[in-house]
Amino acid sequence: MPDTEIAVIVLAAGLGTRMKSDRPKVLHPVAGRPMIGHVLATTEALAPARRVVVVGNTGQVDAFGDAVGDAETVVQDPPRGTGDAVAAARDALAGFTGDIVVVYGDTPLLRPETLLALIAARRGPDDPAAVVLGFRPDDAAEYGRLVTDAAGGLQAIVEFRDATPEVAAIGLCNGGIMAFDGAVLFDLVARIGNDNAKGEYYLTDVIALARAAGRVCAVVEGEPEDVLGVNSRAELAAAEAVLQSRLRARAMAAGATLIDPATTWFCHDTRLGRDVVVEPNVVFGPGVEVGDRVTIRAFSHLEGCRVAAGATIGPFARLRPGAEIADGARIGNFVEVKQARIEAGAKVNHLSYIGDARVGAGANIGAGTITCNYDGFDKHRTEIGAGAFIGSNTALVAPVTVGAGAVVGAGSVIADDVAPDALALTRAPQGSKPGWAAAYRAGKQAKKDDKP
Ligand code: UD1
Ligand code: CA
Repeated sequence: MPDTEIAVIVLAAGLGTRMKSDRPKVLHPVAGRPMIGHVLATTEALAPARRVVVVGNTGQVDAFGDAVGDAETVVQDPPRGTGDAVAAARDALAGFTGDIVVVYGDTPLLRPETLLALIAARRGPDDPAAVVLGFRPDDAAEYGRLVTDAAGGLQAIVEFRDATPEVAAIGLCNGGIMAFDGAVLFDLVARIGNDNAKGEYYLTDVIALARAAGRVCAVVEGEPEDVLGVNSRAELAAAEAVLQSRLRARAMAAGATLIDPATTWFCHDTRLGRDVVVEPNVVFGPGVEVGDRVTIRAFSHLEGCRVAAGATIGPFARLRPGAEIADGARIGNFVEVKQARIEAGAKVNHLSYIGDARVGAGANIGAGTITCNYDGFDKHRTEIGAGAFIGSNTALVAPVTVGAGAVVGAGSVIADDVAPDALALTRAPQGSKPGWAAAYRAGKQAKKDDKP
């Protein structure tokens, strides 16, 4: 059934000069994921048979790496416009006759339902050669203008720089997302010229060419938010703001309390359970999963970690990649945890660094405990058994094991293993001189009183 298959072409070869960056524009992240990653994830709603990403030069193929996942890449070098970019995908899609959806890699806010509406219109009874996602921004700025006929059919797209004042006054703009009849797309694209203000091959010229060939074209109107094109750092920040507000709404709809939503910063993949409470000023980096009934107190920073049901984190806690906090465990203020599992009910409440470690169930880690995990060359592990008690200000020099139920005296430097249920302490024995302080003060005072 080739005519029901969909191929997606993602245009990502533009220079992005307005970003003033060494990094390709579409690799700039929003909500912790490159823009193109958002676009590709959204296209999954179409269950595309093929996905082709057009990148700017062979050097970029590597830079795109993870961001494009299993999509194919083709190179458009040099980038000579969006029409030329689609032409670059021609060989990769040779013989493909289904629908072809073209999306821009710099529109990270595109939603799946918008793409589905576009493809539904493309498959409408009038069989349009092209369906364009139109929108009406408050400020039409430099977007291409959609020229429609009395019946609402699309006649042409005119780029802002080539628009007459009458055309520039049109409020309906090109969002840049289009669905095409794959049987004719590449023939139409081959006819695009570059006689325009930018000297580029505009994909938008396809509409007039399709009309001239006797085909109908159509517009589906979407929300301005969907097609916000990121061309500058300011637009990147605007896209981030929209995505953050969507992620906050999603978390609350799923049963999390955000005490001050505007100060909770999410990553695209943050997962929160039910009855999670997030206090103000919490940042989620990539790869965070939080179980039910967890409280994350103010000013905490979490990334690459798992927090199980009923645990309490913060305030001012930092969970780094590989931190696993089990049920009901407590991580308190100014505590950093990295590559470490804190088992059920264990407590690390104050001023600690726990890295490359396991803290057994119910263990209590005193204030200021540090796992000395790094010797300048290698990382080493610290194992702390269930129910162990580590006194305040202890340095655990890894590799080292403290057995279950053992007690470590405050201020110790533990470099050898401690047996289960043993006491270990390394501090110097305390000396004591009764009355010394009073005698000292009296002597000092007498000398002071003698002075003239
Ligand atoms: C384009 C549209 C404009 C629309 C706007 C919506 C054209 C000619 N104009 O303008 O009508 O209102 O998007 O955001 O299509 N790219 C390539 N190769 C190139 C040039 C661009 O792959 O040679 C890619 C870019 O990486 C980007 C996308 O195509 O992802 C859009 O290019 P951009 O230069 O940002 O187009 P606009 O000027 O914004
Ligand atoms: Ca753009």
